[in-house]
Amino acid sequence: MKQAVVLILMVATCFGSTVKHQRRFPDDFVFGAATAAYQIEGAWNEDGKGENIWDHETHTNPTVVIDESNGDVAADSYHNYKRDVEMMRELGLDAYRFSISWSRILPTGFANEVNPAGIAYYNNLIDEMLKYNIAPLVTMFHFDMPKKLQDLGGILNPQFSDWFEDYARVVFENFGDRVMKFITFNEPKEYCILTLVGVGSDVKDPILNSMDVATYLCAKNLLLGHAKAYRLYDKEFREKYGGQCGITISVSWFEAATESPEDQEAVELRRQGEWGFFTHPIFSAEGGFPKELKEALTEKSAQENYSCSPLPDFTEEEKDLIRGTADFFGVNHYTAFLVSAIKKESVLTLPNVMNILDNFMFADDEWPKAASSWLTLAPNSIFKALSLLRTLYGDPIFYITENGWSTYEGRDLFDDDRVQYYRASMESMLNCLDAGIKLKGYMAWSLMDNFEWMQGYTERFGLYEVDFSDPARTRTPKKSAFVYKHIIKNRYVDYEYEPENMTMTIDEGH
Ligand code: NOJ
Repeated sequence: MKQAVVLILMVATCFGSTVKHQRRFPDDFVFGAATAAYQIEGAWNEDGKGENIWDHETHTNPTVVIDESNGDVAADSYHNYKRDVEMMRELGLDAYRFSISWSRILPTGFANEVNPAGIAYYNNLIDEMLKYNIAPLVTMFHFDMPKKLQDLGGILNPQFSDWFEDYARVVFENFGDRVMKFITFNEPKEYCILTLVGVGSDVKDPILNSMDVATYLCAKNLLLGHAKAYRLYDKEFREKYGGQCGITISVSWFEAATESPEDQEAVELRRQGEWGFFTHPIFSAEGGFPKELKEALTEKSAQENYSCSPLPDFTEEEKDLIRGTADFFGVNHYTAFLVSAIKKESVLTLPNVMNILDNFMFADDEWPKAASSWLTLAPNSIFKALSLLRTLYGDPIFYITENGWSTYEGRDLFDDDRVQYYRASMESMLNCLDAGIKLKGYMAWSLMDNFEWMQGYTERFGLYEVDFSDPARTRTPKKSAFVYKHIIKNRYVDYEYEPENMTMTIDEGH
């Protein structure tokens, strides 16, 4: 009898200690997945939706997309939203981040004409999610500018921030009673620099090809729009609904290639030019664009015979309007780069405003590579990025609002590289939590395969595969979906776990 008790105690101690050393996510850590309207919805001209710049550009200039595809049908989530929610339940998600198509609810972009069918679609989606306790995180602008507004200059029109504020009011009025987290803009830099329909890219025929001037004007107007929407929420909706409003900025990790002072300086400038010119105005105590970036641009512009820097200044009033306008910091984090002052062969040639500042970025050869040219799996990069942001910006509340891995098109249900990437991200987030960083949640990109902008359907990011040749757009879970589900359920990373079979079910309580 005594021996049996000792044995039980030993087993319990061993078991206890394993459990104790297993790093876990707290129960209130929010696990979710993300998508965006143009990339999944389809129904591009149904039920009164207006045209947006992606509709227009892909129809009139199809070769801008690598496989000449478009989002006319995409994953057809407009008609399949119930299946989408079912997938969320299968995964056991706490939250789902999706975006509202501005021109679906305001066909011309202006708030004087609201499309009831558009409002109904998002109401249905939100209500369906809430039935199963899945919290909506709503992005208000994910690259799909209404065409009518673009005709007037889009984000470069000085009135843009007011149009955005009007749109935000419609969003808050219609959905604010049930949505507790709003994200004003997704990835400002990518909109202002990289996307075809942004204003700076020269990758493919752009609407405008004005890297320097347009990019910074876009930044200024976007930040003003963000700030006006935030202030509006604060003034008229926060008390009534008690929700939050933030922004999502893409923050890759940039590391100096060597310890040389030149590379140290290069990486500093690169960080500011990649994300600092959006994060600094909102999150720093000082406000406005980063000083070093301003100085570097002024110097560079003089060398290039401009009379002044392309970076517009904010008035003191504008600085105050923008500073502090985020209840949380949404970070899209995917990848990392080494930065050098000296050109290397492997340098990435993505269009980038920092090219004018003469520094170069490339990936380490050792880091596993995804299908997307810019995406690698670099060690512990979430932790490194958030640690720096915490130091710079006084301990904000973070959500990873996107993180994911691309594979080439074709059936890839056994996506072990994606599984490896997600597990590495989990470890890096656990490092954040151990260090006391206020990281509250994580949205995997993406719930399902979708239209990857200029890469069309050639690069796939989904936890669920979508069969784009099937009119029903059937969704099938990949191995990564099972692994993610296991992590969410158990709140730790189990490297031994392998799905028994690839059959997905909904667990009790979901
Ligand atoms: C970030 C963007 O927000 C999203 O639209 C895109 O599909 C992913 N990155 C992957 O490139």
